[in-house]
Amino acid sequence: MNIHSEKILIIDFGSQTTQLIARRIREQKVYCEIHPYYTDLAKIKELKPSGLILSGGPRSVYDKGAPTCAPGLFDLDLPILGICYGAQLMVQEMGGVVEKADKREFGKSVLDIISPDGLFAGLDRDKQECQVWMSHGDRIDKLPDHFLAAAQSEHSPYAAIRHESRPLVGVQFHPEVVHTLIGTDILRNFLFNICNCHPTWTMGSFIDTTVAAIRQKVGRDQVICALSGGVDSAVTAALIHRAIGDQLTCIYVNNGLMRTNETASLLQFFADTTHLKVIDIDAVDYFLTELEGVIDPELKRKKIGYGFIKIFEEEAKKLGDVKYLAQGTLYPDVIESIALDGGTVIKSHHNVGGLPDIMQLDLIEPLRELFKDEVRLVGLELGLPDEAVFRQPFPGPGLGIRIMGEVDRLRLDILRQADVIVLEEMKTSGWYQKVWQSFAVLLPIQTVGVMGDERTYENVIALRCVDSLDAMTADWSKLPYELIGRISNRIINEVRGVNRVVFDVSSKPPSTIEWE
Ligand code: XMP
Repeated sequence: MNIHSEKILIIDFGSQTTQLIARRIREQKVYCEIHPYYTDLAKIKELKPSGLILSGGPRSVYDKGAPTCAPGLFDLDLPILGICYGAQLMVQEMGGVVEKADKREFGKSVLDIISPDGLFAGLDRDKQECQVWMSHGDRIDKLPDHFLAAAQSEHSPYAAIRHESRPLVGVQFHPEVVHTLIGTDILRNFLFNICNCHPTWTMGSFIDTTVAAIRQKVGRDQVICALSGGVDSAVTAALIHRAIGDQLTCIYVNNGLMRTNETASLLQFFADTTHLKVIDIDAVDYFLTELEGVIDPELKRKKIGYGFIKIFEEEAKKLGDVKYLAQGTLYPDVIESIALDGGTVIKSHHNVGGLPDIMQLDLIEPLRELFKDEVRLVGLELGLPDEAVFRQPFPGPGLGIRIMGEVDRLRLDILRQADVIVLEEMKTSGWYQKVWQSFAVLLPIQTVGVMGDERTYENVIALRCVDSLDAMTADWSKLPYELIGRISNRIINEVRGVNRVVFDVSSKPPSTIEWE
């Protein structure tokens, strides 16, 4: 669906900051998409971009087999900004020379602007000599015909370049990183002066165009969507409901492994304000019976995942004529599914493990162009309660993988009570939203304690609390001692069956965020 009237295409050559470029462009209220370097010219033309950005990349443009762009790309009558590798590729493809630099330029560097127009238009005096972030081992040695130096640095006579008459510009540094102090000015100049874009892409406009596109795609057909309690599925459901009303049916499966009131507030919101059809399935007995005697974490995951699919499938069959399945797939999942090595998929992402293949439904993924914080903004714009929008991530298998060893009602009850206390204290202290995740884990051991005059022999709760940007790596959160102490006191005093609380001080890697 080509529903955005103005867009920038980022051609990805494998830089670690490609997603960051996209974030920076969208912050300027201009829509952009990332496409792999091997995207052909026909596809690029079909997308009708207002301009292209060629990303950085780990290779050298003169290497044998180094990624290159679609032949004829520079003949298109389109503004192009090359960043680092992208700029070097532009130079090489247009007849200039790129060579290994005598001195690798990495880190902060001072830029001397020669041509205070184009990318550098409108900068005030302070910014004219200014810090940028370099990360390259190659340098532009000879410019192609009709190109000029727009800025230089100590080691790069061509730190920024531009064509004398066409909208082709390049920088050897990274405008997308915060260390480049004029990075935002440069990107704004590219977007608004060189590409003539307008800052009109807001979450409101996203909702309008997406709602129209869903209506057109679905027609009179029926759609189902699994509600998990998480923000992605809630926003997906709210968006699709706005588009097609009661042609959408949501299915919420209570597997008995949710937190206390985990989804109650969300279901209440949907019931009160949207008239969304939700089939609320109580499958607690089924799941707890399936989990009896199961200790192995992977087997737990498999049993829970399989049970979910089975119930979902049964319910969808009962509904009859369903053509579409809605999923809350996000942009990072989409990008991860695109490989740069010529087409093999690194990770194909399914929110509801395998459902689409089994059920042969067409997918609707209205959030597949958005980053998580944009999804949250859409949620707020759609009127979802703050509590649902700013919820910390919660794993699909729920408390099942936060109880070490066998999962049963008694142990679920202990963990739920401890978890409520963690949540309450994190929220009242203002730490809930400062950390990535904070939760309790029930350990499979008992330890000795003393309560009053009595010896006790009871359970241990571990408090896990991490800072992270994307869950790929994480560090344990440096919570104030008083807060840790209060959580510990309350759990030991208020939760029957717990006499010890420990604090997890492991980072990921080598540990993981969850304990199983
Ligand atoms: P780990 O424990 O691998 O977790 O460091 C990384 C992030 O993923 C979440 N997580 C899961 N989410 N199903 C999910 O939907 C799972 O089986 C699962 N395991 C971990 C975890 O909460 C963290 O945010």
